[in-house]
Amino acid sequence: MGKKADIDWGKLGFEYMKTDLRYISVWKDGKWDEGKLTEDNMVSISEASTVIHYGQSCFEGLKAYTTKEGKIQLFRPDLNAERMNESCDKLLMPHVPEEKFIDAVMQVVKANEKYVPPYGSGATLYIRPYLMGVGHNIGVKPAPEYIFGVFCIPVGPYFKDGVSPCNYIVLDDYDRAAPHGTGGNKVGGNYAASLQAHAVAAEKGFADCIYLDPATHTKIEEIGAANFFGITKNDEFITPKSPSILPSITKRSLLYIAEHYLKMPVYEKEVLIDEIDQFKEAGACGTAAVITPIGGIHYKDNLHVFHSETEVGPITQKLYDLLLGIQLGDVEAPKGWIFEVK
Ligand SMILES: Cc1ncc(COP(=O)(O)O)c(C=O)c1O
Repeated sequence: MGKKADIDWGKLGFEYMKTDLRYISVWKDGKWDEGKLTEDNMVSISEASTVIHYGQSCFEGLKAYTTKEGKIQLFRPDLNAERMNESCDKLLMPHVPEEKFIDAVMQVVKANEKYVPPYGSGATLYIRPYLMGVGHNIGVKPAPEYIFGVFCIPVGPYFKDGVSPCNYIVLDDYDRAAPHGTGGNKVGGNYAASLQAHAVAAEKGFADCIYLDPATHTKIEEIGAANFFGITKNDEFITPKSPSILPSITKRSLLYIAEHYLKMPVYEKEVLIDEIDQFKEAGACGTAAVITPIGGIHYKDNLHVFHSETEVGPITQKLYDLLLGIQLGDVEAPKGWIFEVK
């Protein structure tokens, strides 16, 4: 293992930092070029790019982890590649072949090895692949050219003093996605559209807002930029099912872990906001924090508390420990979940 960058890993937050090299590839005349690593962290594009005017862009987020033995590994990057291509279909952008996507991620991690936080630091390397429509164009139509890029930054532990619950608020007058819109895809516009609701929730003192289903406002969809799960009083793992929820890779992994490691019944089904008292524990899940336990949900002038506003529930803690253990190589992973960076 080479020398590590001089960084106080435990103090890192989630902030941009220029690391050594990033990957860029261009799609033009119907095909991708080879792609290359570059030191230049500025991207120069036409003022008439569709990404600027019409939001023709999508992205992904995943992490690299250092194991106890010093190996560097990725967690299910094939699912990020697959999800990016689903976003491409939605926005009429060319696919990034899975091998190209994974190769680009591997190259970037390898080239920035000194920024991959060491085992035990709590920090990880966050990897951000993106794809955007560029080239000269003014009408509302797909771009003539595309840029696929991947960069990485070391990020700190989401919870600096151990996992602890957060409270969330249902904001009934905001929607994140339309019933047949882009909610199920990781496209840029979804995030621009979520900024105001997040700011309102934060101003009211909550970690983020909870989005209900846009058609009826009766079912839980997303918790800010994370998926929801609840543990019922009968020890079942339940997570909402809807085409306008982003299919979280963490959520899909937790469904598997709950079923196969903890032998719990698991269900993906509608979760009515009026029936949240069926849950003794609840959490928000995503790559950033793995799991953020939900202390309480504020809905219609009432704060519904699950397990506790200060303590993590026992099943949530087990799920967290197992998934993070798999990501760090401390717990045996299901076949195909771990990709070593060599
Ligand atoms: C809207 C939204 N929901 C859920 C998630 C969690 O997905 P994942 O577990 O793949 O990070 C994310 C983050 O990527 C997100 O942006």
